[in-house]
Amino acid sequence: MASLDEPFTVGELTVPNRIVMAPMTRTASPGGVPGPDVAEYYARRAAHHVGLIITEGTYIGHPTAAAYDDVPDFHGERALAGWSHVVRRVHAAGGRIIPQLWHTGAARTATDPPAESPSGIGLDGARAGRAMTHQDIDDAVAAFAEGAATAERLGFDGVELHGAHGYLIDDFLWTRTNRRTDGYGGDPDSRARFAVEVVRAVRGAVSPGFPVFFRFSQWKLGDYGARTAESPDELGRLLTPLAEAGVDVFHASTRRYWLPEFDDSALNLAGWIRKLTGRSTVTVGSVGMDRQYGEGDFTQGFTGPSDVTGIDELVARLERDEFDLVAVGRSLLANPDWAALALRGELDRAVPYDPSVLRTLA
Ligand SMILES: Cc1cc2nc3c(=O)[nH]c(=O)nc-3n(C[C@H](O)[C@H](O)[C@H](O)COP(=O)(O)O)c2cc1C
Repeated sequence: MASLDEPFTVGELTVPNRIVMAPMTRTASPGGVPGPDVAEYYARRAAHHVGLIITEGTYIGHPTAAAYDDVPDFHGERALAGWSHVVRRVHAAGGRIIPQLWHTGAARTATDPPAESPSGIGLDGARAGRAMTHQDIDDAVAAFAEGAATAERLGFDGVELHGAHGYLIDDFLWTRTNRRTDGYGGDPDSRARFAVEVVRAVRGAVSPGFPVFFRFSQWKLGDYGARTAESPDELGRLLTPLAEAGVDVFHASTRRYWLPEFDDSALNLAGWIRKLTGRSTVTVGSVGMDRQYGEGDFTQGFTGPSDVTGIDELVARLERDEFDLVAVGRSLLANPDWAALALRGELDRAVPYDPSVLRTLA
């Protein structure tokens, strides 16, 4: 029976407990360079027993990967020197860390150069940017592979591919943004083709034991009701080829971990993916929080305040092997010591989440 304080091994990575820091963009890396304050922010969570840190999304070296200022780059000498320092500090604090490799696809709003996406269609279904050529596809695949090779070279413990929330990889998986008729769009196998090529190239660029995580979501930026897979069958057809291409762990991005993903079963999205692909999974969404991500008073930031809740239901599901790891977002922003509190059974000491914590890298 799995429990929160039990180690988890994938490839050459052993995580000492099941608590993962969810990837969270902090826009605190001016010029794309993560500084010493970013390193200390992650090292603080590592020192307080977060088992595995997934970094904020970081841009691969591709001309249209970026969409927002002050997000760290994952290319270029200065940014990589910054990341190298982050890795050293997290390891020195006893932690493990993997970067989330990000290409924002249709979400990019800058026009020089314009956004690239499967069909030149934005997340709202309107024309935006331009449709990728086969050469563009090959270039983006190569940039992800280069990012993964760089992660291993810098000493990271694995890599996560951002395949969620409406960004490039997800734009191919989703019918609203993918209208291609050239073998990269249409049925689920064709919509999965770009992701499969990315995973295969990434797998080929790193050592066999270097874990590859893949983040997947139904919801998209600006559309929490969106669905990429309407049925377990469609979900399996999209993700099984990715497992076969080399994904070790799927990270199922949901906003409330206890919600059933499909009718006739209590399984959440991570549970379904585990069952369908046979791979390990990470669950996420309102762990220790009574309100979900994206809810509440937006004048205070893009996600509102939330009170603290317990984790009995989460632990029960972990013990039933519905998923293998548990990612924690806002609870860890408000409480750098949240993992230590959870492991000691002292979550009554955790403080609520307030968006003002985003103003600094505390
Ligand atoms: C400030 C902030 C930034 C985020 N940035 C990212 C990101 O870069 N990549 C990503 O996949 N998810 C991102 N997310 C989503 C989180 O990883 C997580 O899925 C979400 O917050 C739900 O978890 P929680 O309820 O524990 O906060 C972000 C969330 C927050 C609050």
